[in-house]
Amino acid sequence: MVNRRIAEILRSGQAEEVIKIQGWVRTKRESKGFSFIEVNDGSSLASLQVIINQDVPDYEASLKKINTGASVEVSGVIVPSLGKGQRIELKAQTVQVYGEADPETYPLQKKRHSFEFLRTIGHLRSRTNSFGAVFRVRNACATAVHQFFQERGFMWVHTPIITASDCEGAGELFSVTSLNLKDIPRTPENNIDYSQDFFAKPTYLTVSGQLEAEVMAMAFSNVYTFGPTFRAENSNTSRHLAEFWMIEPEMAFCDLQGDMDLAEAFLKHIFKYVLEKCPEDMEFFNQRIDNTVLSTAENIIHNQFERITYTEAIKLLETADVQFEYPVSWGLDLQSEHERYLSEQLFKKPTIVTDYPAKIKAFYMRLNEDEQTVAAMDILAPKIGEIIGGSQREERLDVLERRVIAQGMQPQDLYWYLDLRRFGTVPHAGFGLGFERLVQFMTGMGNIRDVIPFPRTPQSAEF
Ligand code: 4AD
Ligand code: MG
Repeated sequence: MVNRRIAEILRSGQAEEVIKIQGWVRTKRESKGFSFIEVNDGSSLASLQVIINQDVPDYEASLKKINTGASVEVSGVIVPSLGKGQRIELKAQTVQVYGEADPETYPLQKKRHSFEFLRTIGHLRSRTNSFGAVFRVRNACATAVHQFFQERGFMWVHTPIITASDCEGAGELFSVTSLNLKDIPRTPENNIDYSQDFFAKPTYLTVSGQLEAEVMAMAFSNVYTFGPTFRAENSNTSRHLAEFWMIEPEMAFCDLQGDMDLAEAFLKHIFKYVLEKCPEDMEFFNQRIDNTVLSTAENIIHNQFERITYTEAIKLLETADVQFEYPVSWGLDLQSEHERYLSEQLFKKPTIVTDYPAKIKAFYMRLNEDEQTVAAMDILAPKIGEIIGGSQREERLDVLERRVIAQGMQPQDLYWYLDLRRFGTVPHAGFGLGFERLVQFMTGMGNIRDVIPFPRTPQSAEF
């Protein structure tokens, strides 16, 4: 007997032979002499309707055990459905219940639950329509990422999760230690004696794989990372996670222009891929979550992104007809309200802002000729704000050393990074895409906690 996924059955329609499905019951409707159940196996938004006649073996006993949430295996044949709402249904020949779900205590009964409530049952929420759709789209996004880079000859490189350097220099690091916290060894000067720690020096969970990606780009030309990154920033917002996934391409022989072009082509590719692979899920988001999801996707695919400099952006914000909460002036970083004003209100599309003041950006960004700004670029998305951050890298040893020192770091700690400029340095550039922000942008989901299966945020590391 052929074991089939429900998505495939719904796509292909009729089947002659006897098939078998396995999944979880969403609903049950009992009538005289027969019952309908809806079974979902996670392969699609739509469930498969199963009709069980009373002549099926153990009809009464099985039906008693079949409630919302129960796991079942059904064999039977696909027949045209006489009812409304579905083209076909499975006419059961045998039904086996694997595990029951007590209707009194199973939290996912057939009604709409708030996302806040569903967050408290993160171990069960993937069985709902919304989270099923989110995680299928997330999977499609991830596949599109690899497809995009692999088709272009980029090598996927695996950068370390434990690191001794703070790539972004923002000090938002989680420490990694095996020292006994109840009895921390001390040096004679009463500092922590890291020589006794596992790595014999302070180490952290990485905030970015970029520095190591640069190492690999200096051998393989074009590379990308796709892995988890960690930030101990105490931001309780709908767009920040303490653990999030980032995609970081790094290209040798590339400047800021090439970096922006790649980033724009990359986002367009992912949107196109997801529209093609997950039409039902995307339709669902458009209907239930945010009715601009599909038009936004079309807009991304078919229109060029706006490109402006930071200096131009500041002028536009200073003359904007809006009262911002945070001040705007040349030299200050853009806040999310500013980013959203530019992309959401003014240009109504993704907006690439370039050439930020050196003082507010990381040490590795290439200093422009004006010596005030760096060859940085952020891509701002409507409703999300910053979705991509990138730059051309400083490839000149002397300038980079100056920048490292100016930002309070020790050049000897970064000797290996500086070596890349000592031996065969080349102009190079890259960027980082926040994967969850992308999935949020794609689906219209309002809270970043709802686009990752197990969110880590301040005060919360459940499941
Ligand atoms: O702008 P960021 O800090 O850039 C970097 O880490 C660079 N090393 C990237 C590079 O050039 N290779 O972070 C990149 C992106 C942001 O634009 C945002 O989308 C996402 O990562 N991001 C977060 N996403 C969720 N939660 C957080 N706390 C995030 N912080 C950054
Ligand atoms: Mg950034």
